Amino acid sequence: MGEGILNAIADRVGTPVFVYDAAAIRSRFRRLVTAFGDTPHGIYYSVKANSNLAVLGVLRAAGAGADIVSGGELARVHRAGFPAEHVVFSGVGKTAGELRHAVRAGVGLINVESFGELRLLDEIACAEGRVARCGIRVNPGVTAETHPYTMTGAKGMKFGVPLDEVPTLAAWAAERSSLCLVSIGMHVGSQILAAEHFREGAEKLGGLVAALREAGIESLEIVGVGGGIGIRYTDERPVTPEAFAEAVRPLATATALPLAIEPGRSVVGPAGALLTRVLYRKHSGSKDFVIVDAGMSELVRPALYKAVHRMEIVTGREAAAPDGSVVDVVGPICETGDFLGLERELPGAEPGALLAVHDVGAYGFSMSSTYNSRPRAAEVLRDGERWAVVRERETIDDLMRGEWTVEGLEWQR
Ligand code: LLP
Repeated sequence: MGEGILNAIADRVGTPVFVYDAAAIRSRFRRLVTAFGDTPHGIYYSVKANSNLAVLGVLRAAGAGADIVSGGELARVHRAGFPAEHVVFSGVGKTAGELRHAVRAGVGLINVESFGELRLLDEIACAEGRVARCGIRVNPGVTAETHPYTMTGAKGMKFGVPLDEVPTLAAWAAERSSLCLVSIGMHVGSQILAAEHFREGAEKLGGLVAALREAGIESLEIVGVGGGIGIRYTDERPVTPEAFAEAVRPLATATALPLAIEPGRSVVGPAGALLTRVLYRKHSGSKDFVIVDAGMSELVRPALYKAVHRMEIVTGREAAAPDGSVVDVVGPICETGDFLGLERELPGAEPGALLAVHDVGAYGFSMSSTYNSRPRAAEVLRDGERWAVVRERETIDDLMRGEWTVEGLEWQR
């Protein structure tokens, strides 16, 4: 990502800081669009991967819709200028308030994940005097090889409606004048490397759409194939956008419906780096530690999924030669699981050096926390040679906003 600009950003904004590359985001989005060619489709960027308003703006301008999972994300996409019709609202536990908000806003598609949610949506749409455009997120029973925490489409998981229950929900929805069932969709999981999992899910969805039509359901306008396209963090060989398109395209042909695609990671993941400064080195037992100013509060993926992110020293000082020694790169958080990388060769990782942790554009900042009362990092967007802060580093006041000391409480009973 250009050493000079990264050093300049770290010097002026401080560390830790996330840096996103707008050109990379656009080109990754375009590659997916091109892969689908003339297959009718809509791409709904999965906001949870990176919900920064400026990143959302880049994707909106590139022609994306938005896939959201909360009222907070609905507010974000609204502020970023996405028209409500280009928004798909999924999520396993939407509250009544969130559903009401979505119905009022005229969200293009509300994907329900249980009968209870479908009933609640109907009640809300009735009360609002609106027709809710809804879809059913199906659990296709596809066990995709990925981390157990990012597997979502296998049987027995909390996500989606089991395949065999969908016809009952669909028939119920078809009877309600406040509901219009416009979509059947799936999401088999995240960081999927093999196309066959998408193909398997798409085939099951095709069979389901045919069965629903036989049962007299004619209102479907779109069929959802989710996101989940994997990226290369180290030596993975992930499914390419072209192979993904080829795997799900038969579903568009078989159903004569456009596809809805919800990519997150594959669009923004490789377009982001986390810059962090080396604070100290220390030796303990047989280990060498490099202690940096970012940790699991900024990037929880290594701690949570044992994710491995490439990292390198970007300081302009004379490059040290690798000597075969390895270090654990750890953060300042009081947890043994607080590491960014284990047993890495990192010549030059001396106090003051700048370290870039790669491929953190997705599920980096968006999963960050203030654990240990650490203000959240700044975010920067670069576009060619220019760059701008797109989220200020949080302040100590931000950390305690809305909080009271015990002397100031207004007790209630
Ligand atoms: N659609 C639905 C319904 C989803 O649940 C997700 C991700 C996506 C689309 C986007 O998937 P993607 O293209 O980004 O793989 N925090 C984890 C990933 C969790 C993904 C959750 N759902 C990680 O850091 O690996």
